[in-house]
Amino acid sequence: MKNSSPSVTTSTTDETIASFLEQVDREKMPRHIAVIMDGNGRWAQARGLPRIEGHRQGANSVRAIIEAGVELGLEQLTLYCLSSENWKRPAAELSFLMYLLERYLVDERPEILRQDIQFSVIGRIEDLSDAVRREIDTTRDLSSGNGGMRLCLALNYGARGEIVDAVRHLAERVAAGELAPEEIDEQLLSDSMYTAGMSDPDLVVRTSGEMRFSNFLLWQISYSELWVTEKFWPDFGKSDFIQAIREYAGRSRRFGGLKS
Ligand code: IPE
Ligand code: IPE
Ligand code: MG
Repeated sequence: MKNSSPSVTTSTTDETIASFLEQVDREKMPRHIAVIMDGNGRWAQARGLPRIEGHRQGANSVRAIIEAGVELGLEQLTLYCLSSENWKRPAAELSFLMYLLERYLVDERPEILRQDIQFSVIGRIEDLSDAVRREIDTTRDLSSGNGGMRLCLALNYGARGEIVDAVRHLAERVAAGELAPEEIDEQLLSDSMYTAGMSDPDLVVRTSGEMRFSNFLLWQISYSELWVTEKFWPDFGKSDFIQAIREYAGRSRRFGGLKS
């Protein structure tokens, strides 16, 4: 019997995106990949560096994976950057993460626009600083007419909080007499999430070997495939991303039915 637990993979490939695209069955490519970018702190600690150096280095992996997503023709890439639980961390680490996010949004804006990316965010953005919100709004507005890959950053994001926000919104509509309880179905709940209008992730990638979801997109990943690598996020590169997609393309997704 096949082991049903997800395997942890360490990449050894060094394949280019062009040669991968020549071989892969395009029908089997994921449309939407969501990534839990984990292990920045451990990457730094393993080198005797402060944790923030791992976050700084992790920004380079973000750049590489966004570029890979565009080259691969993905419809959407969603990146888990900051969870609603990450506020438990020391103030110094959080303030560095905010600084890095603001710098990233400014520095990467020309590249995002050049690559025709549509930029969006999910999470309780209202709790972020004015400076970060301003940069988010600018990139979102400038990229709104773009037709390429959708890039969504999950910032101050928590799936349970998202579900609470959606349910509260629907309850308000019911209380106002705009909506009958029996009109609430899976589609309406999906349309009430931060991710309204986005497809569900086909594939969830997690780095650093952790076998958990850490409150990420719990509603949307109910039928996503999971791929985990032992590599820490700052070591994760395009060849690892290709390996995840190759393994995804080889899987049989049945959604509760039988193999066709
Ligand atoms: C992921 O790396 C980045 C964030 C959660 C912001 P971590 O900071 O969680 O690194 P580890 O897991 O402690 O190594
Ligand atoms: C998940 O990583 C959140 C992000 C990658 C932004 P964490 O490091 O916060 O998750 P746990 O604490 O190991 O579950
Ligand atoms: Mg972590």
